[in-house]
Amino acid sequence: MVFAAAQHTDPSAGSDSPATADLPAAIRALQQQRKAVILAHYYQQPEIQDIADFIGDSLELSRKAAATDAEVIVFCGVHFMAETAKILSPGKTVLLPDLEAGCSLADACPADAFARFRAEHPDHLVVSYINCSASVKAQSDLICTSSNAVDLVQQLPADRPILFAPDQNLGRWVQRQSGRELTLWPGSCIVHETFSEQALLQLKLEHPGAEVLAHPECQQHLLDLADFIGSTSKLLHRAEASPAESFIVLTEPGILHQMRKAVPAKQFFEVPGADGCSCNACPYMRLNTLEKLWHCLHTMAPAIELDEALRQRALEPIQKMLAMSR
Ligand code: 13P
Ligand code: SF4
Repeated sequence: MVFAAAQHTDPSAGSDSPATADLPAAIRALQQQRKAVILAHYYQQPEIQDIADFIGDSLELSRKAAATDAEVIVFCGVHFMAETAKILSPGKTVLLPDLEAGCSLADACPADAFARFRAEHPDHLVVSYINCSASVKAQSDLICTSSNAVDLVQQLPADRPILFAPDQNLGRWVQRQSGRELTLWPGSCIVHETFSEQALLQLKLEHPGAEVLAHPECQQHLLDLADFIGSTSKLLHRAEASPAESFIVLTEPGILHQMRKAVPAKQFFEVPGADGCSCNACPYMRLNTLEKLWHCLHTMAPAIELDEALRQRALEPIQKMLAMSR
């Protein structure tokens, strides 16, 4: 996916970045100069989480993006997250350290194919997971995140059928939790589809007292083995509040950094992908690095750009989500 961005750079900007050890201090200095806030998702690498002003799940990050009085938002996450920030805060410069940081769910739902899907179901309300493009958001009645999806679907009129896109795994879980029938778009997350059930069962055998925490983007056969299911923030809070001393975590392992910081005496185990690959790490999230973070603040690029008419259409269902979220 090729994303639109403003590439205008500060003419005084050279390209030599500081030495690795000096990057955190250099980023702080530039951040002050630019009056920037650094937002990071839990799936970012630990060194990026450690420099962020705020770390959160998709819902919390969009709330922060809407409320900040900073002039610049540096979004250490993926494109749909930075784009949502721009939709909510059009007057601010929104920077994404690596413009190629996309998402398999957003890619799985092209706007034209989605328009045909909607046209085949004209009487349906359209609920889209925030992991989608602005063009898909603009065609939706309501946006949701993994944190509020069940609650929002339960608030919709009982007599209206619902389309849910683009994550079929999240959709099936929302369906089971809410008791509402959903017509699902067939998208999925390449990271959450990769966890090995065999490795999970082996970890459960080795650590019989461990609680299994899972993100609802996982497939149903894995969610059936989980003790607790929720968004990244909810998984973190569960790890803090649970009486368990150890946890097997079925989501991107970036979240383990905050879990270990929050409750250092507890043990956390990540679940590998099938064949023991490290494909449980989101390849898009991991594109952002400290060096690219410094560089985007230095050059003020790449910045997210959006057509104003599209932004306004995409804003409505996001604002509805924020108003309906409890
Ligand atoms: P959260 O809603 O937990 O932030 O999840 C976002 C995401 O991309 C999960 O893969
Ligand atoms: Fe997208 Fe999956 Fe990466 Fe989340 S983990 S950003 S859903 S590809």
